[in-house]
Amino acid sequence: MATFTLKINGTERQVDVDPSTPILWVLRDHLKLTGTKYGCGIAQCGACTIHLNGNAVRSCQLPVSAAADNEITTIEGLSENGDHPVQQAWLELDVPQCGYCQAGQIMNAAALLERNPSPSDEDIESAMNGNICRCGTYIRIKKAIKKAANA
Ligand code: FES
Ligand code: FES
Repeated sequence: MATFTLKINGTERQVDVDPSTPILWVLRDHLKLTGTKYGCGIAQCGACTIHLNGNAVRSCQLPVSAAADNEITTIEGLSENGDHPVQQAWLELDVPQCGYCQAGQIMNAAALLERNPSPSDEDIESAMNGNICRCGTYIRIKKAIKKAANA
């Protein structure tokens, strides 16, 4: 066990955990930030996507020791009132079905628009390729990203 100071959603939090613990479990089990979901645990689905220094990363594969001293943002911290342009577009277009994958989709989409504010269809497909949705909401996700880009 070791003590880590984490910068999460603009707040410093301390946790006592094994250094190899994936940050996903620190967020969910230790800090009760359960918006970030567990899907596969092997970096294959994107449900656990968070931002590390603004970049989309898979939290199921990121040890807490590697996340410490970096800026971590989860779906709970993406915006103060759920009004990030991506979240607004998601609402307006009714993107989610069961919702399980959607926090990861939104975090990946927000990171995409941060580095590329006017993505082409190909850019969107390439960036979102690894985020799996078992409900098949891909067409609405693409439309919502374009709407957010134009907002
Ligand atoms: S749970 Fe992390 S990529 Fe699937
Ligand atoms: S909305 Fe159900 S898995 Fe994506």
